[in-house]
This record gives sequence, C-alpha cells and structure tokens, in this order.
Amino acid sequence: MLASKLFRRMASTVQSSVSVVTVIGAGLMGSGIAQVAAQSGLNVHLVDQSEGLLENAKERIVTSLKRVAKKKFADNAQMRESFVSDSVDKISFNVDGKAAAASSDLVIEAIVEKIEEKQKLFRELDLVAPSHTVFATNTSSLPVSDIASATKRLDRFGGLHFFNPVPVMKLVEVAKTPETSNETFDLLTNFGKTVGKHPISCRDTPGFVVNRLLVPYQMEAFRMLERGDASAEDIDMAMKLGAGYPMGPFELSDYVGLDTLKFIYDGWHDQFPENPLFNPCALLDKFVEEGKLGVKTGEGVYKHGK
Ligand code: 3HC
Repeated sequence: MLASKLFRRMASTVQSSVSVVTVIGAGLMGSGIAQVAAQSGLNVHLVDQSEGLLENAKERIVTSLKRVAKKKFADNAQMRESFVSDSVDKISFNVDGKAAAASSDLVIEAIVEKIEEKQKLFRELDLVAPSHTVFATNTSSLPVSDIASATKRLDRFGGLHFFNPVPVMKLVEVAKTPETSNETFDLLTNFGKTVGKHPISCRDTPGFVVNRLLVPYQMEAFRMLERGDASAEDIDMAMKLGAGYPMGPFELSDYVGLDTLKFIYDGWHDQFPENPLFNPCALLDKFVEEGKLGVKTGEGVYKHGK
C-alpha cells in the first residue's frame, strides 16, 4: 500500500530540467519556440498536421537561424553554417503528436486560439505522455486553468507565453494556475532561461502582463484612428519617436495579425461584457471582415509588399 503510494508520487515527480521538448503547432510562434530550444541544444519534436506545414516551418526556421548566425558568428562562415545545420538537426519534424509527447519531458502547445481544440489536444496527450511530463500552453488570451482542466495533471500544467518574433524577443511569461506545482513552475522558468529568455512570473489572468497592457493600447489606437484624431502614420510615428517603441501600434497590429487582435479582444469582451475597456471597435471589425489581416495577407492598416 505504502509502496504503491510512494511509486505514484515518484512517477509523477517533475524533473528539474528538460532534455526533450515537443512543440505542437508549427506556425510562427511554434516554429520560433522550436528554433530557440534547438539552438540551445535541446532535442525537439515539432508537430503539425501536414508535411506541407512542416516544410514551411523548416524553411522559416532555417531563414531565422541564418539571421541569428550572422550576428553570432559575424566573422566565421564555417561556424555560421554549423550553427544552422546543428540546430536544424536537433529538430524532428513530425505529424504524430502522441508519439512525440510519449518521449518528451515538456510539451508546449502553440495551436489555434480555440479552447475546444486546445482541450481536445491535451486530453489526448494526457493519455500517452509519461507522468513526469509537464504540459504548457502558449495561449495569448485564454485561461490556462480552463485548458488544463481537460487533463489529469493540473499540478504539471502551466502557461509559457513567448513573443513574436520568438528568436528576437527576450521575454517569456510563466503563468501559474492555483494548481501548478512549484516544481512545474521551476521547470518552466528554467526552460525559459535555457532557451535564452528572461522569465517573469505571473498569475493566470487574461493576457498575463504584456497582452493585458499591449492589446488595449492597440485598440485605443484604432479608436483614435476611427475618430480621425490623427493618421495611422502619425500615430505610429508618435509612439516610435515620442515613447521609444520599436513599432507603432498599427505596424505592430499588422505584424501580429488584425484577426489575432480581434480574436483576443472579442474573447475578453465576452468574458467581461461590463468592462468598457474591452468594447469592440467597428474599424478593426471592418478590416477583418474585408480580409485585411496585416502582413500575412499583404494588407492590413498598411499595404505590405512581397
Ligand atoms: N529571426 C531572427 N532574427 C530576427 C528575426 C527573426 N524572425 N526578425 C528580426 N531579427 C533580427 C534581425 O536579424 C536584426 O538583427 P541585427 O540587428 O543584428 O541586424 C534585428 O532582429 C532587427 O531586425 P530588423 O532590422 O529586420 O528590423 P527592426 O529593427 O525593425 O526589428 C523587430 C524588428 C525585432 C520585430 C522590432 O521591430 C520589434 O521589436 N518590434 C516589436 C515586436 C513586438 O512588440 N512583439 C510582441 C508582439 S505581442 C506578441 O507576440 C504576443 C502574442 O500573444 C500576440
């Protein structure tokens, strides 16, 4: 009796570090997370639904690794080449998420921001992943607790939120739910440091720290534009030259995707309809309805060349 209790406790003990990580979702965020893990020497499974999506991700990762290498090994072409090839070799591109999770210490989900899809994914992975495996979501706006509730490893579940472009942005937010264990939190924090990021700790609240501040700011810029207070160009210039931001609010919105911005905001409005800060903005809705989603569609607030 005692022995089986002890075994159960040992079996669900979280390791102190990660050597194999699975990233589910090979979009911009997922491929960025896989890249920084691989270039830090970890073994990575990058998973998506089709070979085509994985091919695109590989191409994106190689391009980005070359940019990193150019900076890191400016005077040594051979080092640049081996940095790129060694890092890519650390990634296995995979369509079988269950097999990948079964051999991983950490699984990070970076799929579409739909609660049902995230829950379905984790429910399935929970059945096959070893008991020591920690699960993390890169959600930008959904409650981590709601996603975790699909699993039986609430203590081994947390938020790990990266920023676009992942290879460049230095921050990772580590979000703790009331059930996240200290060991899990430490593992996620250490993982963030291992992949070269500065981890900050936060509670499981909508948008954590960065998006909770950034998204209402972007929305306020759309309201300003809607009222005709200033042009998009002047608002962007104002925030770059007057506040020292690397991009103005519209450049950033086009970069992140206007659909993503609307998705986050609509979700918060549904959750907190009484909070006027989260009221929808007709101008943003119009851009999205017209398919002007930003850089990825060639047009958002601005037109973007190929
Ligand atoms: N991979 C590797 N390196 C990259 C890169 C990538 N994908 N993108 C840019 N870089 C490197 C470049 O090689 C360049 O290096 P260098 O300085 O040695 O030449 C450096 O970053 C600067 O790039 P660029 O010269 O091309 O362009 P900028 O100077 O304009 O910088 C930027 C681009 C880093 C994106 C900068 O504009 C920036 O920091 N913008 C703000 C981004 C931001 O706020 N991100 C957070 C969005 S919110 C989010 O992601 C949350 C989500 O939940 C929605």
